[in-house]
Amino acid sequence: MKIRLWVVLAACALQLANAQAVYGAAREATVRSPDGRMSVSLRVNGEGRPEYSILRGGRVVLDWSRLGFILANAPKLERNFELAGIEEKAIDETWEQPWGERRFVRNRCTEQRVTLRERTGAQRSLIVVFRVFDDGVGFRYEFPDQRTLAQVDIVDELTEFAVAEPATAWWIPGGEWNRYEYLYNKTPLTELAQAHTPVTIRTASGLHLAIHEAALVDYAGMWLRRVSGQRLKAKLSPSSSGASVRRQAPFATPWRTLQIADSAAGLYMSDLILNLNEPNKLGDVSWVKPFKYVGIWWGMHLGTQTWASGPKHGATTKETRRYIDFAAKNGFRGVLVEGWNQGWDGDWFAKGDEFSFTEAYPDFDIVALAAYAKKKGVHLVGHHETAGNIANYEKQLGPALDLYAKLDIDAVKTGYVADAGGVQALGDDERIHFEWHDGQVQARHHLRVVEEAARRHIAVNAHEPIKDTGLRRTYPNWVSREGARGMEYNAWGDPPNPPEHEVNLVFTRMLAGPMDYTPGVLSLTGAGGKRIQSTIARQLALYVVLYSPIQMAADLPENYARFMKPFQFIKDVPVDWSDTRVLNGEVGDYATIARKDRHSDDWYLGAITDESARTLRASLDFLDEGKKYYATMYRDGKNAGFEGDAKSLEIETRPVSRYDTLQLKLAPGGGQAIRISTNLGSRGPRSSPKTPPKKPQPEFDVE
Ligand code: NOJ
Ligand code: CA
Repeated sequence: MKIRLWVVLAACALQLANAQAVYGAAREATVRSPDGRMSVSLRVNGEGRPEYSILRGGRVVLDWSRLGFILANAPKLERNFELAGIEEKAIDETWEQPWGERRFVRNRCTEQRVTLRERTGAQRSLIVVFRVFDDGVGFRYEFPDQRTLAQVDIVDELTEFAVAEPATAWWIPGGEWNRYEYLYNKTPLTELAQAHTPVTIRTASGLHLAIHEAALVDYAGMWLRRVSGQRLKAKLSPSSSGASVRRQAPFATPWRTLQIADSAAGLYMSDLILNLNEPNKLGDVSWVKPFKYVGIWWGMHLGTQTWASGPKHGATTKETRRYIDFAAKNGFRGVLVEGWNQGWDGDWFAKGDEFSFTEAYPDFDIVALAAYAKKKGVHLVGHHETAGNIANYEKQLGPALDLYAKLDIDAVKTGYVADAGGVQALGDDERIHFEWHDGQVQARHHLRVVEEAARRHIAVNAHEPIKDTGLRRTYPNWVSREGARGMEYNAWGDPPNPPEHEVNLVFTRMLAGPMDYTPGVLSLTGAGGKRIQSTIARQLALYVVLYSPIQMAADLPENYARFMKPFQFIKDVPVDWSDTRVLNGEVGDYATIARKDRHSDDWYLGAITDESARTLRASLDFLDEGKKYYATMYRDGKNAGFEGDAKSLEIETRPVSRYDTLQLKLAPGGGQAIRISTNLGSRGPRSSPKTPPKKPQPEFDVE
C-alpha cells in the first residue's frame, strides 16, 4: 500500500514538473519567407495537439490546421506534445537542370525545424520541418531514430489544410477506379469530396493556391478529403497490409506543399516542388536525351491496328521500318513500338502475368530493327505494358532492360493498365497482394524501375503512373509520365477530351511536372471518324503549352503527309528549354506560354483556349534588344473551331521585335503556335522562303 502511494505521488510530481516545463516553454513557433511576406506558425493547443497556420501579407491563407498521425502498432501521435526545440536556417542556392522548362532554378527559402515531444508517457518525438518560400510553403514530418518508435505503421496522416477564404477548386476524384484519368471538376471548395493532388484553388480575393506534395519516396500518395467546410485532410492511398505506410525510423515523409500566387501564371512559374526534391543522385546524366518521337500507337487506339498478333498486328518488321524511315526523314529521334512482345493476345488487361518482356512476336525482328534504326540515326523506344502485374514485371526487369541496353534502346515507356487497387505485387509471403497505383508499394516499384533503368542509361516514361512529385530532379532519367487523361481519349473516349480539359491541365496536372500527353493529331480524327474537339493550330500549341522533354507526334505518317505545312512546326519545336514565361492564363479558361530553346536564341509560343473564342494579347518583351526575329504564326483560320472546319488554318511569317504585342485570335476550342526565330529558315530539312510574305496567306485547305 505504502509503495503504491509513493508511486502515485511520484507520478503527480512528475506531471507537475512536466506541466511547468510546458508553461515555461514556447507554445508557438513562427517562421517567415525570405521576402517576409509569408509566415507560418506552428503551435500546440491546450491539449498539446500540434497545428499550423499560414499567413500572406498579414492575411490568413490557411487557418489552424492539424498535424499528426494515427499508427497501427503504437499509440497515436497527435496530442500531449510540447515544443522541445526550434532551429531556423536560410537557404539560397541556384542549381542547374540537365533538361527542363528553364535551365537555372533558384532555391531560396527559410527552413524551420520544430521538434515536438510528448510531455509524458513514452515521450516520443516528431519533427516538423517547414520550408517557407516567397511563393509557397513545404513541410514534412521526420520520424527520428528513437527506441520508443522504431517501426512506424501509419494508418492515417492527420495533416489538414483549412483554406480560410471562400474559394473555388479544380479537382479530379481520388480513390476512384480510373486512377488519375478523369475530367476536372470546378466546384466551390465546399463541394470537393475526395481528390488527387494537385488541387488548384482560387479564393474570392483572387489568390491562387495549389496543394500537392514533393518527393513521394517510399510512402503512400496523399489524397485530400474534405472533412468540413473548406477544411481538407490528408488521406493516404491504401495498402494491402492495412497500414498505408510501413517504415523503419529514422525517415521523413514527402513534403506537403502549398504553392501560393496572385495569378494562375504565378502558380505555374513556381519551382517549389523541384526545390523540395533531393539533388540529382545519378551523377553525369548527359546520356538522358530530350527527344521527339513517332510510333506504332495511334493506329491501335483507332482500332485499325492491334497490339495482338494477327492480320492487323501493328508491330511488324515492315511497319516498323516504315516508321523508322519516316522518323529519319523528318528528324525524329525516337520510334515507339507497342505490341512488339508476347502476351497481348486475348484479354491482355486481365492477363498481365502472360507478358514477356524479352520475347518478341515472330513478325517483329527486334535485333534487325534496332540495327536498321541505328543506321538511320534513329532509336527505337521500348515498351513494357504490365497490365498492373508488377510481380511478373519485376521478375523480368533485369533481363528486359538488359535486352534494350544491348540494342541501344535508351528509353522505355512503361504501362500499368489496371483498375485502381488492382496492381498485383508479390508480398514478402510470396503471395500476390492487390495494391494501389499511388500506394507505398507502387511508389517503391517505380523507383526500382527508374534506378535499374538508370544503371543501363535508359530513360523512363510511365503511363498509368504514380503522380509526379518532382522526382525528376533526383532521377533525371524519369523523363515523363502520363497521370491524366491524355490524347488517347480523343480516339476512343466517351466523352473525348473537351476543349476545356487541356486548359485545365496547364494549371493543375502540369504543376506536378512533365506529361506525355502525345499531341499532334493534325487529322483531328478519332476512332470511327469521330471529330477531335480541337483545331490544327491548337494541336501545335500543345507542344509548347503541355511541357515534356519527350514529345510524341502521335498521328499516323500518312496523315502527316496530308498536312506538311503545319507538320513543319512539329519538326521545328524543341523539347528542351532555357527559359519559360507564362504570358497570361486563367485556370480552365486559357493559357499562353512562351519558352526559349535551350540550344538557340529562338522562342516558341503556344496559346490555347476553352470552348470560347478569345483574343489574347502577348507582349514579346522577352525577346532580346536589338535582335532581328521572324515570327511564323500558325493560327486558327476564319472557320476554325472545335466544331468548325477541321482544316482551317492560317500561316504567316513576319518580322517582330521585343516592342511588338501580338493579338492572338483563338477560335472556340482553338489555339495558336508561333516560332520566333533569328533565322528565317526552319530547323528541319524544308527549304525556306527568301523574304517573309507581307500579308497573311489566305486561309487555306492544308490538304
Ligand atoms: C495506356 C497508355 O496510356 C497508352 O499510351 C498505351 O498505348 C496503352 N495503355 C497500352 O499500353
Ligand atoms: Ca492511359
